[in-house]
Amino acid sequence: MSTPVLALGRSVFGDPANKGNLPPLEDAHALLAEWVPNERLRLHMKQVAAVMKAWALECEGADELTARKWELAGLLHDADWEKYPEAHCRIIIEKLEEMNVDPDVIHTIASHGPKHFGVEPETKMDKMIYVFDELSGFIHAAALIRPTRYEGMDVKSILKKLKTASFAAQVSRDDINDALSRIDTPLEEIIQFVIDHQKDVV
Ligand SMILES: [Fe+2]
Repeated sequence: MSTPVLALGRSVFGDPANKGNLPPLEDAHALLAEWVPNERLRLHMKQVAAVMKAWALECEGADELTARKWELAGLLHDADWEKYPEAHCRIIIEKLEEMNVDPDVIHTIASHGPKHFGVEPETKMDKMIYVFDELSGFIHAAALIRPTRYEGMDVKSILKKLKTASFAAQVSRDDINDALSRIDTPLEEIIQFVIDHQKDVV
């Protein structure tokens, strides 16, 4: 298999000395405001951030600091996508390394698309961003074509759309299945969790 275009070519990110070093959320939002003019893409990152934070708190028993790591990883994972599509992931990683951000957060961002970046998800935080990323966007695409958006949306309708290849065709069903194969939670539960935690994000 040929090397993917966006392959990062390394598997170690950040400096262990920076463990626990997290930028204030306002700084992360300021970076997004500067790098991501596209409102829809910003919303995508805010949605993934909300779902990641909620998962850490509700399902992993995380403390506030750990939950903030999950949130930051979600908030920044596509920060360089709009400005630097040909160097997506590399630029935001370098930026976060420069900012001395916690290496766990950087590794999670680096592994959010193993087929693209060539970095395998290792921690639960890595695995969950991989699970949530495509599904969050998919569920939002489904909400946008419903007159009542998220209101009354059920898991069954999302499952059906996932089986309809022409709906949100750019969303890789293979990636979703691959991501799910690395965790123990069934797809139905993940879908419900995403709906519940991203529906009110603006
Ligand atoms: Fe994403």
